[in-house]
Amino acid sequence: MNVLVIGGGGREHALAWKLAQSPKVQMVYLAPGNGGTALDDRLKNLPMTDMVALRDWALEHKIGLTVVGPEGPLAAGVVDDFRAHGLRVFGPTKAAAQLESSKAFSKSFMQRHGIPTAHFAVFSDAAAAHAHLETTGAPIVVKADGLAAGKGVVVASTLDEAHAAVDFMLADGAFGNALAGGEARVVIEEFLQGEEASFIVMCDGKNVLPLATSQDHKRLQDGDAGPNTGGMGAYSPAPIVTPDVHARAMREVILPTIRGMEKDGIPFTGFLYAGLMIDAHGKVKTLEFNCRMGDPETQPIMARLKTDLLEVLWAATEPAGATGLADMELQWDRRTALGVVLAAHGYPQTPRAGDAIEGIPKEAEDLVVFHAGTRLRDGVLETSGGRVLCVTALADSVRLAQARAYETVHQIQFDGMQFRSDIGFRAVKA
Ligand code: AMP
Ligand code: GLY
Repeated sequence: MNVLVIGGGGREHALAWKLAQSPKVQMVYLAPGNGGTALDDRLKNLPMTDMVALRDWALEHKIGLTVVGPEGPLAAGVVDDFRAHGLRVFGPTKAAAQLESSKAFSKSFMQRHGIPTAHFAVFSDAAAAHAHLETTGAPIVVKADGLAAGKGVVVASTLDEAHAAVDFMLADGAFGNALAGGEARVVIEEFLQGEEASFIVMCDGKNVLPLATSQDHKRLQDGDAGPNTGGMGAYSPAPIVTPDVHARAMREVILPTIRGMEKDGIPFTGFLYAGLMIDAHGKVKTLEFNCRMGDPETQPIMARLKTDLLEVLWAATEPAGATGLADMELQWDRRTALGVVLAAHGYPQTPRAGDAIEGIPKEAEDLVVFHAGTRLRDGVLETSGGRVLCVTALADSVRLAQARAYETVHQIQFDGMQFRSDIGFRAVKA
C-alpha cells in the first residue's frame, strides 16, 4: 500500500519513518516533507501544499491511507474533503478539530461535560475583558481564541501584562481577528500550578487507545527560561504520569471527551492530545486539547512504538460498525526515548533559513535524527525553519538517553544552532 503523510515537520518525519517500517507499506509520500525525508529512499516528498490538488493526486495515485500531521489542514476540513471523495484518512473532521482550533469551543465543551479545567471567561469586548481582569488579579492567563501557532497564550505574572495581552489579541486588524475567522475573542483563565504532561491517545470515534506518555519542554532556554516555543525537546515515558494519574486522566479527561463529542454529534477520530497540568496531589486538569500528535512528542513516542503503525491506523479508520481500535494493543520499547530539538538562529521570533547543516550521523538502533525545518539546495542540506532537527535517542534510563542524545547533538553543526542542554531534567533522579 502507498500511504500519505500531510505535513513536513519533525512529527511528520517520525510518523513517516515509522510507517515505512511496516511490511505492508510500499512507499510513504509526504506533502511537502523536508530535507531529511527527501534523503530517505523509503520516503518521497511531494512539493504540494494545496489540499484540493493533493486530494486529486491521492485519488489518482490510489493512496490507501492518509495521516494528517498539523492542525492547520485539519481545522480547514481536509479530513471532511478526503472522506467525501472516498479516501481513507486518519484525523478529526473540521467540526471535531474545534477542540483545538477554538479555545472558546473547547473550554465550553469541557464545562458542559464536566471535564476538569481552569476556571475561565470568554470576551470579545476589550472593556469587559479589562474590567474582568481587575476582579481576578494576577497571575492570570490570557489566550487568543483561534489557532495562533504557539503565540496565542500569555501567562501574565502582572495585571499590566494581562491588560497588554488583551489589547494585543483584541486589537482591530491585529492577529486576533484573522485567527478566529471572524470576531476576535479572548479566553481569560485561572493560572494553574503543577507539572505538565502530554497525554495523547488515538480514537476511532468510539474506542480509545492511549499512546505512551511524554513530556515537552516549551520554553526556549534551560531551566524553563525564555520565551515559549513549539517545544524544545521531549521524552517518553513521563514518570509524572504514574499509573494513578494515568487512570485519572483516562477517566476524568479522555473518556468524557470522547463520549461528549459522540453525544454532541461530532465523533472524534484521530490523535487527541490533552495537555495536562498535574498538581502535587496527582489531580489532573486539562490545559488544552490538540487534535493531532504533539511535536516534538511524536519523535520519542514513535521511537518507542513497536507495533506496526499502519495496522493500528487501518483499524482506527475502519467504517462505522467494525471493531476499530477495540481489540488493538500497543507494544512499547521499555527504554526511555529522549529527543533534543536543534533550532535555528533567531527562533522563535525570526528564525533564519539557509544555514548549511553538517555532522548528522547515520541512523542506529538507538538513535535517529528526525528532520523538521531542513531542505536540500543543490544537494546541500540547510536550515529552512525554526525547529530544524530532533536528535532522538533510546536508552535504559533518562540519564543514559540524555547522554546518547547530547553526544550526537555535539557532532551536529550549523550557524546559530540553539538547543536546551537539560531536556529530561524533571525525570532525572537526583
Ligand atoms: P497552550 O498553548 O494552551 O498549551 O499554552 C501554552 C503554555 O502556557 C502551556 O503549555 C502552559 O505552560 C501555559 N499555560 C496555559 N494555560 C495555563 C494555565 N491555565 N495556567 C498555567 N499555565 C498555563
Ligand atoms: N509540543 C506541543 C505541541 O505539539 O503542541
